[in-house]
Amino acid sequence: MREKKKKMHPAKRKRIALWSTFFVLALAFALPLTSYTVHWVGMTANAQDASSAVNPRSGFWRAIRQGQEGYSAVKGEGANVLVQEGALEWRSFRDSNPWLNKLPWAIVGMAVLLLLYHLFHGKNKLDADRLSGRKVPRWNFFERLVHWVTAISFIALAITGLSMLLGKKLLIPVLGKAGFAAWAGMSISIHNVVGPIFTVGIVLMIVMWIWHNFPTGTDVKWFLKGGGLFTKSHPSAGRMNGGEKVWFWILATVGLAVCITGIVLVSVIYPQVQIPGVQFLRSDMQQASIIHAIAGIIWTTVALGHIYIGTAGTQGAFEGMSTGYVSEEWAQQHHDLWYDKMAAKGKVLEAGAAPGSQLGTVYGKTPLHEPPN
Ligand code: HEM
Repeated sequence: MREKKKKMHPAKRKRIALWSTFFVLALAFALPLTSYTVHWVGMTANAQDASSAVNPRSGFWRAIRQGQEGYSAVKGEGANVLVQEGALEWRSFRDSNPWLNKLPWAIVGMAVLLLLYHLFHGKNKLDADRLSGRKVPRWNFFERLVHWVTAISFIALAITGLSMLLGKKLLIPVLGKAGFAAWAGMSISIHNVVGPIFTVGIVLMIVMWIWHNFPTGTDVKWFLKGGGLFTKSHPSAGRMNGGEKVWFWILATVGLAVCITGIVLVSVIYPQVQIPGVQFLRSDMQQASIIHAIAGIIWTTVALGHIYIGTAGTQGAFEGMSTGYVSEEWAQQHHDLWYDKMAAKGKVLEAGAAPGSQLGTVYGKTPLHEPPN
């Protein structure tokens, strides 16, 4: 027979219900407070640590500032280093060194000098009133191709490089922060792609032209006569004159410095661009970036002079680098010793014989001979 279940006294049931509710409420309030307890315990522990002689956390941060490596899933040179102290010194040198900050004014100075020279002296014109139409071959197709690819690359690199160097000061007021950020991002991509093309161009130029750029006594006399820049007379010159040789050696030294430091800057970030057997570090990158900027500015300054002389400054020079041929009169006036050698070798072409040469259209001068019918 089933035993009848004993009923709980209502007062007892009430007491249990009350205590349960109280207990649940007490837990609900007490549980969140445990975090304060943990925090308080930690504070006490920290306070005890602070009172001891060495603070282990300060040692920890000192080690990190001194380049202590940690772990990072990102691979690459220096990826494990959280704080690289050299970077702080590099940034303050790059942003605040007074000499480095003034250097870009050299480019402005050169532009002003060239403008003044052009306004007061004008173009160096050909002396001859009438042209024979005879031409002298000066630059072959490959040389011109290399020259123009390198020259166009140079212009792209100069614009993007200066944008990155001076953009914060010069471009943010014009483009705004968002506009400058977009342009700076594009600049670095253009710089990274064009840089290697330019480097190949520079190496080819050095290999092709070093042979006729060794200095001679003729160059010293050319310089003593100021290169004929301020006089009516034209100092003698071989295939290249003293000024062109100086430009060449600037290209071969400062230019190579720009290219090599450019490779260091890229190779730390891109594993694809490496010099075999050489591992560059972040500290190399910091030094390279300063040399790269200084050499780039010096070179841009000198290049302005070269571009002026090759275009608006000298009548007939551009024709040589664009068609490959110069007029007999230009060769005699600017490179007399070279012209004599070319004439002796029978390399001076008769009027109309040079490919694409048209009589009477050069420099607006009247030809001595009528064009063949
Ligand atoms: C973009 C504008 C440029 C123009 C209009 C220009 C024009 C010329 C001209 C006309 C010549 C021939 C001079 C002669 O026949 O005696 C020449 C030669 C030369 N150019 Fe340029 N050029 C420019 C940019 C550059 C750049 C950016 C570089 C270097 C990166 C460069 C490097 C050279 C070299 C090395 C020579 C031969 C000089 C020598 O062998 O001594 N040019 N240029």
